[in-house]
Amino acid sequence: MNVRPFVAERPAEYADVPAPVTRRRAPANLPPGPRPKVPGDLLVRFQRDTPAFLLDLRDRYGDASSFFLGGQLFFGLFAPAMVHEVTVAQQGSFIKGVGFERMRKVLGTGLLTNEEPIHLRHRRMMQPPFHKSRLDGYAEQMSVLARTSVESWRSGTTINIAPEMMRLTLLIVARTLFGTDADRHTEQIAESMEVAIDRIERTMLPGLDRLDGVPLPYWRKFREASDQLAEIAEDLIAERRQCGVDGDDLLGLLLAIRDEDGSAFTDEEVRDEALTLILSGHETTANALTWAFSWLGSRPDVYEALRAEALRQDWVTGSAPATVADVMGTEVAGQVIAESLRMAPPVWVAPRRALRDVDIAGVQIPAGAHVLISQYVTHRDPTYFPDPHRWEPSRWTPQLHSALPRGAYFPFGAGTRKCLGDQFALLESRIILLHAAAKHRLLPADSLHPIPRAEPRATYRAKGPVPMRVN
Ligand code: HEM
Repeated sequence: MNVRPFVAERPAEYADVPAPVTRRRAPANLPPGPRPKVPGDLLVRFQRDTPAFLLDLRDRYGDASSFFLGGQLFFGLFAPAMVHEVTVAQQGSFIKGVGFERMRKVLGTGLLTNEEPIHLRHRRMMQPPFHKSRLDGYAEQMSVLARTSVESWRSGTTINIAPEMMRLTLLIVARTLFGTDADRHTEQIAESMEVAIDRIERTMLPGLDRLDGVPLPYWRKFREASDQLAEIAEDLIAERRQCGVDGDDLLGLLLAIRDEDGSAFTDEEVRDEALTLILSGHETTANALTWAFSWLGSRPDVYEALRAEALRQDWVTGSAPATVADVMGTEVAGQVIAESLRMAPPVWVAPRRALRDVDIAGVQIPAGAHVLISQYVTHRDPTYFPDPHRWEPSRWTPQLHSALPRGAYFPFGAGTRKCLGDQFALLESRIILLHAAAKHRLLPADSLHPIPRAEPRATYRAKGPVPMRVN
């Protein structure tokens, strides 16, 4: 098996990355920002709570600010128009920034980490399995798995909603991706994913790469977990190739996919894409649901409305299969998810690196500079979201949807790097919420702290297991 290094070689087809912009090379007309006397101070504040740091930047300095971390120039760009410029209008001037390189240790070169021109070829090939027409098939599978899971919760007991959601969303993505072949590996995938996700994030901290080669048990476990995941994916691919039947799950589709010139993915490419889908496809959704259940626990009015909506659905009560049209027609569930993704966007920052000098809404960004746009910050803009720190699903009226400018709300990103699984995630989240609400009322086990603290890492997670009482 091919063991991946922490930092893989950049494929020759990728664009060259300009050197970072140091203080000496920085242009004179930078937007304002913190310039502490002891530069290390800023790194400490940045690391301690990055979303809070970025929100504070916006509050103090406005929509565009600049600062230096580790001697390198960063911009914070938060106005919707700037977000749109970076993610869509001028996306070709940027590549993904800090952190993504090191993800290749686990994900190889899947869609999330790939760059142009390879990314677009893969993206085109990967689109069909996520096409709306295929989602109906997944909806019923998701519904069966969600119902089974929710029915196993016993009234009067306490469940830990964070790991519960992680298990369920992993089961859903593994089943839709690999079919039932994956069932015997689910425990192992869950265990290895947990180690990989935890350590992927830590390995992104600046400076830690110096320890990569040191034989610490911490790294050994990380290496073992990522190798284990690769091995499982390789086994499943080899098995599928051997039996010669494609199957209509995602793996079958990935193996059958052909580009316009007739070329197929290699086994390594399928492996990396499959691992990317498992990783990006379960943790994000699980976090969004954990937050949604936490907020619902303190809002009996919204919970009751959700429950009433759930009990009106044939597919929830069991008399009809779930379809995309029925699930996506649910109004309250849609509002609960939209508002949870606004307040606690699982992907809360999009780091980018400028490939060339570029003008973003009047801000001059030199080639090589880091640019941070942030869902967490922009989703809290009071111009578009009055009382922005309050969780209020009823704000999501059709009028709000149509009044929002481009770039004001982007939980799934935008442009060619937009989330491939956005519809999959929205479908799955509504299905899980509605099955849960039909069957139980979940209340925070710690009534003094009904909303968990955040533990922002690569994703915006709730801290701890988030115990909830099942009624
Ligand atoms: C609530 C759940 C989810 C959220 C909030 C979310 C968010 C995002 C965001 C913001 C990006 C873009 C990152 C960037 O521009 O730097 C992204 C990319 C991606 N997501 Fe998701 N995601 C979710 C669920 C899923 C699911 C369920 C899947 C697959 C089954 C998935 C697969 C992907 C892939 C493959 C990419 C890379 C796309 C590309 O660069 O072409 N995501 N996601």
